[in-house]
Amino acid sequence: MKNLKCFAGDINPNDLDRKPFGFHHNLADHPALSIDNISKIIQELPKEKVMFSKGLNNLKVNFDHALNNDTKKLDLKEVIETLRTSNSYIAARNLELHPSFKGLYDDLLSDIAELMQRNGTGTKVLEPMVWLFIASPNAVTPFHFDRSSNFIMQIRGSKQLAVFPPRVEEVISAKDTESYVDWSSELPPWREEIDLYANKFNFKSGEAVHIPFVSGHYVKNGPEDISITMSFFFHSDETFNWAQAMKMNNRLRRLGVKPSAIGVSPVVDSLKAGIFPAVDGVFNVARKLRGN
Ligand SMILES: [Fe+2]
Repeated sequence: MKNLKCFAGDINPNDLDRKPFGFHHNLADHPALSIDNISKIIQELPKEKVMFSKGLNNLKVNFDHALNNDTKKLDLKEVIETLRTSNSYIAARNLELHPSFKGLYDDLLSDIAELMQRNGTGTKVLEPMVWLFIASPNAVTPFHFDRSSNFIMQIRGSKQLAVFPPRVEEVISAKDTESYVDWSSELPPWREEIDLYANKFNFKSGEAVHIPFVSGHYVKNGPEDISITMSFFFHSDETFNWAQAMKMNNRLRRLGVKPSAIGVSPVVDSLKAGIFPAVDGVFNVARKLRGN
């Protein structure tokens, strides 16, 4: 594809949020992503933007809990110094707020907007957020899915990245997906039997993978080096609508109604997304009246 600043390779824009796919990026040697600059950013970002965790080596660990609990226990400086041997994991968010990321961030925004415009799912990148993950050799990111669409880029080291097709009932049920998107349930537990659905990418520096909105995934780092990975989370108009419509479906289930699936009819999805804020308001009033 022409006109792209950071992304390269054979990209079909129509696959965006339909299926995972691999391609290339040219950011591995970008000065903003040098180890020196990353160390500086991690020390300079507000404390609540940096999380770290130790001993993540089990796919069954609840990823949200692991990050929340371990962040309170560990010393960030100690984690950076011992990263090669400590089986640790640092996650830093909102890198787009750091001045050294400005040029890189603008170029990524431009590439993603170009892809969305080509497939007609949006014109502007919505709710963009850049994360950086720095992890020890062999560290595991447990099975989970995110509430945004994602481009993940390997900067240093290698990983095996398993990405599941999005919105497939046998992998993660619509009910589980929609209640997690609506922040009303935890991640569904890992089940070994779904592994046969995974697309597995052997992910090296200079390579990128698209993880569609609500696609399950897990990651195992390679044994030879620490791993540095950047993720660009965002919504298109389409995934933003899907997220709102999924929240609406979750509320309909709570009212005893069996809702229609998301992603089948754009008209129905838009209708659900459009009325969700009003319905959410009614739920909030009802919660206050119940006193909780
Ligand atoms: Fe993720």
